[in-house]
Amino acid sequence: MRTPDELRADRRLAINGGTPRFDELPYEESGIARSAADTVAEIVRSGRTVHWGGGPYSKRLEEQFAAYTGRGKAFFHSSGTAALQTALFALGVEQGDAVALSDSGFVASLNVIYHLGARPVFLPTDPTTLLCVDDVSAWVEGHDIHTSLITHFLGNVADVEAVHRTAGSRFLVEDGGQAHGATLRGRPVGSFGDIGSFAGSHKKLVTAGQGGLNVYDDEQIDWRMRTFAHHGKSGNFEGVFPGYNFRGGEMEAALGLAALQELPERVAARNSTARALTDAFAEAGLRTIQVAPGLDATPAWFDIAVVLDEEWDGHRDWLVDALTAEGIPAWAYPALISMPWVEPWMRERGWWGEREQHLAAVETALWNRVLVLGTQMSPEDAKRVATAAADILTR
Ligand SMILES: Cc1ncc(COP(=O)(O)O)c(C=O)c1O
Repeated sequence: MRTPDELRADRRLAINGGTPRFDELPYEESGIARSAADTVAEIVRSGRTVHWGGGPYSKRLEEQFAAYTGRGKAFFHSSGTAALQTALFALGVEQGDAVALSDSGFVASLNVIYHLGARPVFLPTDPTTLLCVDDVSAWVEGHDIHTSLITHFLGNVADVEAVHRTAGSRFLVEDGGQAHGATLRGRPVGSFGDIGSFAGSHKKLVTAGQGGLNVYDDEQIDWRMRTFAHHGKSGNFEGVFPGYNFRGGEMEAALGLAALQELPERVAARNSTARALTDAFAEAGLRTIQVAPGLDATPAWFDIAVVLDEEWDGHRDWLVDALTAEGIPAWAYPALISMPWVEPWMRERGWWGEREQHLAAVETALWNRVLVLGTQMSPEDAKRVATAAADILTR
């Protein structure tokens, strides 16, 4: 791999005034199901796009998504963040409760812990899978873990059963928002946790444009979640606790339903794009994210990640800009523990100690070197842009 200094000095690069490799970024597939256009138009013509407690399309989506994950119940929310927040609330997470959180994940999982006043206990990332490590016992020592919130990040599959067991947590929430259609030990992700939580936003495999779905079996969870998401009202009038308006709309549910019908083809398409990306990088000798060796799992790749050499720490964001200027759609995710507001917030509460300090350093050093390319493009475009990216990084 070329060093950051070599690349920064390369006058052929578009970011340094050279000619871009491609005229524009490749077409990105948002996942919005065009097949639902007439249904959405009908919903608009009906004059009723949202119903208290969820309308007919929301209910149909809930039934079908619950059936797909093998769960008894589902609740359609206005966003994936809302779904994560109601999940933790429904399980009874309160101020100061310890929530074990995979540092490998999307920021929404940390934000909801913050907004509930709970205490995050961060879990480290395996550099091969870019997922939470399986044995987290050393990282939860001294904590009584209320809930583990673990993300199947980038469409890769975390061994959530192992994490839940070694965390000694009372409850498990799986964040499957980037991994609809992935399986672990022959079962869909989201079927292992007390709650499986799925964002349905832009680019997700079951996208509603804006939306989120939780799946679960328990009646009490259902009541608490729906009440919280309907202003805290268990009936029409009085609030039993302070809640939010987090219910999903009918046009969004229709989009989600149509996307769900196409899920197997969508997973296959993403995985074949992922293969094109991985092959192009492997040919150039670059290391990409892997499924955990020996784990009985099938991913549904949302992104493919390349882990850059150590000297790239501090230069990755420049590389993202440089590749984007070439017409290569690159991206990055931060270490959650290292976001600027986290340490001051946790220090103020006496939650930041040596373990957090150490983990923040290790996670930053890893995530600062992770370069990501999304799978929301055709395999042909994937091959073209990954070959060009690999060439820039190694020639
Ligand atoms: C894994 C994961 N969880 C949760 C979310 C939050 O979903 P939303 O953006 O719908 O609030 C996202 C969004 O990208 C995500 O990728």
